[in-house]
Amino acid sequence: MDINGDKHTLTVDHRTTLLDALRERLDLTGTKKGCDQGQCGACTVLLDGRRAVACLQLAVAAEGRAVTTVEGLAEGGQLHPVQQAFLDLDGYQCGYCTPGQICSAVAVIEEHAAGWPSAVTDDVRPEAGPPPLTDDEIRERMSGNLCRCAAYVSIVQAVSRAAAVRAETTGHTVITGHTVTTEHTVTTERAATTPAKRAAA
Ligand code: FES
Ligand code: FES
Repeated sequence: MDINGDKHTLTVDHRTTLLDALRERLDLTGTKKGCDQGQCGACTVLLDGRRAVACLQLAVAAEGRAVTTVEGLAEGGQLHPVQQAFLDLDGYQCGYCTPGQICSAVAVIEEHAAGWPSAVTDDVRPEAGPPPLTDDEIRERMSGNLCRCAAYVSIVQAVSRAAAVRAETTGHTVITGHTVTTEHTVTTERAATTPAKRAAA
């Protein structure tokens, strides 16, 4: 298995989930077990860059695929922008759901940048491009990740900020609720967050 760029060879019962293989065999306990039945998102990892709940994946099915866990997001001692945004904006309370929220948010930002619509996207025509990454869009796209502490307000802000940082560093245009200055401080001005407000803007 390719996990966070490292090759691992494991012999597992074919019923072993990816989540148990990560936690029990490889000591990668950043990935959390919440419901163990695909309901909460605490075990979210990236499989070939796409979100997956590790409790519903068999470890043997991940053979030959690139698995990224929360332990593999930082690079060169520098936190991933999503991790930094969660820290800066208190996107957590107890922190149990946080690794899954962060992995999910990393993929959400990429899915959005690639133009994928969500269930609340107004204009789903391909030529319309990525919709504004409003709070509604973030809430919908992150809806598979539950937080028992209900830190949702801060989580939405953190995802918005990380998307703004990504847009700034890649030169892409994305409308989010946050403006990133050169010091990477954040204003709390909110973008138009409803279809009516966007139409009026
Ligand atoms: S532990 Fe996998 S979705 Fe809850
Ligand atoms: S921060 Fe406690 S469950 Fe989300």
